Amino acid sequence: MRFLITAGPTREPIDPVRYISNRSSGKMGYAIAEAALAEGHHVTLISGPVNLEAPRDAQLISVLTSDEMFEAVHRHANQCDICVLCAAVADYKPANVSSTKIKKPGVKFSLELIPTRDILDSLGRQRDRQFVLVGFAAETDHVEENAVKKLRAKNCDIMVANDVSGADSGMESDMNEVTILFQNGEKKKISRAPKKIIARELVKIFSNFATKRFDKKNVTIN
Ligand code: CTP
Repeated sequence: MRFLITAGPTREPIDPVRYISNRSSGKMGYAIAEAALAEGHHVTLISGPVNLEAPRDAQLISVLTSDEMFEAVHRHANQCDICVLCAAVADYKPANVSSTKIKKPGVKFSLELIPTRDILDSLGRQRDRQFVLVGFAAETDHVEENAVKKLRAKNCDIMVANDVSGADSGMESDMNEVTILFQNGEKKKISRAPKKIIARELVKIFSNFATKRFDKKNVTIN
């Protein structure tokens, strides 16, 4: 099967030397890419800036901003069977990017921010979507409840709920603990384990789901 995976943070420039970003390390997305390749799948990895070595056999597309990630995902999504949007895309970007370094104005300074485009939501709205759509929900509280809301609102097939409240699991950590939620209300829990182990389980779950979906529709998978 052909996987499209997004990973890492995005960077939204403020001026030539500053940007808005987040703590995403890209480890979960890269681990999913490795696990999918190990199972013989084709992988297009669309990655924000991370300090990780790209899996050798993946088609790597490096991006910086949410707009670049949006364009890259839309260029490749329809050639894929499973799109896994694991990236921590910035929700806001500066309304204006200064072409010169902004000087410190004094005591108080406000930056006008505007929402970025939601990539997952835009794919969920695609009417004739053929691929399986997977989102990740990074939550610090009411984890499952919030993730179910995102699953419905963004119209994906699967939402992986990720508790990022602790220092020893989720963002930046090598460990994770996830709950996988499906549109029919079914859910599966993977208890705390290294991201590489979790990734293997996730790839199995995603590809089994896709196989069943495509069998039903009588679609041939390469
Ligand atoms: N996502 C995206 N584009 C954005 C923001 C988020 O594609 N501009 C995707 C992420 O890749 C992830 C999912 O949406 O698969 C959920 O991201 P998350 O950060 O948990 O939630 P948000 O939708 O940003 O909502 P909030 O920050 O309010 O929790």
